Formats: sequence, structure tokens, C-alpha cells
Amino acid sequence: MAELIVALDVASTAEVEQLVDRLGESVSFYKIGLELFSAAGPDVVRAVKSRGKKVFLDLKLHDIPRTVERAVKAGAELGVDLMTIHAVGGKAMIRAAKDAALACGARAPKILAVTVLTSLDQSDLADLGVSREMKAHVEALGRLACENGADGIVCSPKEVAHMRAALGPDALLVTPGVRPAGADVGDQKRVATPGQAVRDGSTHLVVGRPILEAADPCAAARAIAAEMGPA
Ligand code: C5P
Repeated sequence: MAELIVALDVASTAEVEQLVDRLGESVSFYKIGLELFSAAGPDVVRAVKSRGKKVFLDLKLHDIPRTVERAVKAGAELGVDLMTIHAVGGKAMIRAAKDAALACGARAPKILAVTVLTSLDQSDLADLGVSREMKAHVEALGRLACENGADGIVCSPKEVAHMRAALGPDALLVTPGVRPAGADVGDQKRVATPGQAVRDGSTHLVVGRPILEAADPCAAARAIAAEMGPA
């Protein structure tokens, strides 16, 4: 069954608490990103976990293996369920992240790799010395990550079907850029509906504005979950 993750794109722990309480039973998984974590720190993770919710801590770690290992350990000790690293950190860093997670036993967070940021295009890759075509580069980084211990990747809904075929049935495929049919797409360019993303192989959908900006956020979250259907 695919899971809905609501992106906590708000500025403070107080706003997070208000939102999580308002959404109540309609949402059980939340994403905390770099901006909120930098502003509010580990207390915001504790605030969400203490309400019995799952946390996707999306800090996109990229550093030497020892530092990433320690950062993953710190996240695991907070009880987070999913964490992100950059695949371009390389094999040793990916392995170090996974080993740090596994060392936490039953509380081990799953490790997701980011392949190529969606803000980059082919000419940016060329600037970075990458001559491979974007799709081939994303696929190669996804394979590198999963072959070295990552549990899955973050990818756009337009890449899901391809990455499911490339990475096999067990990989977690976490997709932002999801919009219910007829919704405002905002600044997202490559969107899919919840049903399409899940049919293509997404295991987790990350949704922000369609829920946060809805007149009735609970109803919006329930409608998206219903559109996701059983996987
Ligand atoms: O409001 P919206 O549903 O577009 O929010 C999507 C969430 O997923 C935001 O937190 C955004 O930062 C994140 N995200 C994204 N596209 C990516 C990576 C992350 O929209 N490529």
C-alpha cells in the first residue's frame, strides 16, 4: 500500500504542531526538509514523532562517509523513518549511511538517494563534467545507490515507471510533484495524479500545497489517499 507523506513546508514548530493536530488521523507521515530543520532543529522532529507520526527527514546529506554516518545515527536516534542522501556522495558514503541506519536495529531509518536535482538540466550536467544523457545519468546513480545499500530513491512521477523497471520490485520510489486531477500545479512542471504515480510504481507520494493550502486540509488529504487506492 503506497503511503502519503505531507511536506511540512511551514516555518516553525508551532505551525507544525497546529497542522499535524489539525490533520489528525487523516495523515500519518510527514516530511521535514532542510529549511524547517535549519530553523527549528531536532525539536520539530520530536514534536511530530511525539504525536505518533512517521517522519521523512529530507536533509539530502552529502559529505565524507564518517560525517554522513554520524548524521544518520543522530536522525535514527530521533526516530526518523526515512532519510535522504545524495547518490553522488559515492559508494562509501552510501554504504556508511546504510550501516549507520542498520546499527539502530528495529528503529533503522530507510535510506533514500537523491539522483539529480530537478533544478538541474543537461547543460548543468555538462558544467559538472557529466556527458551522459540525463535519463541515463539518473538511472546510473539510482543503480549505484541501490547496489550499495540505499533502500530507494526520490524521483519525479514521470520517471517512476522507468526507475521501477530499472531498480526492481523492492526499491522505495518516493515522488513529489503529485497533483490531484484538476488541481493547481503551482511551480511544479512534471506532475502526475496520485493514482497514476502509484500505478507507475511509487511507494510514497510527497504532497505539500494541495493539502496545506486547501480550505479543508483533512478532506484534501483523504481525497488524495483515496485516489492513491490500494497499491
Ligand atoms: O507543494 P508541493 O506538493 O509542490 O510540495 C512538494 C514537496 O516536495 C516540497 O517540499 C518540495 O520541496 C519537495 N520536492 C519537490 N521536487 C523535488 C524534490 C523535492 O517538489 N524534485
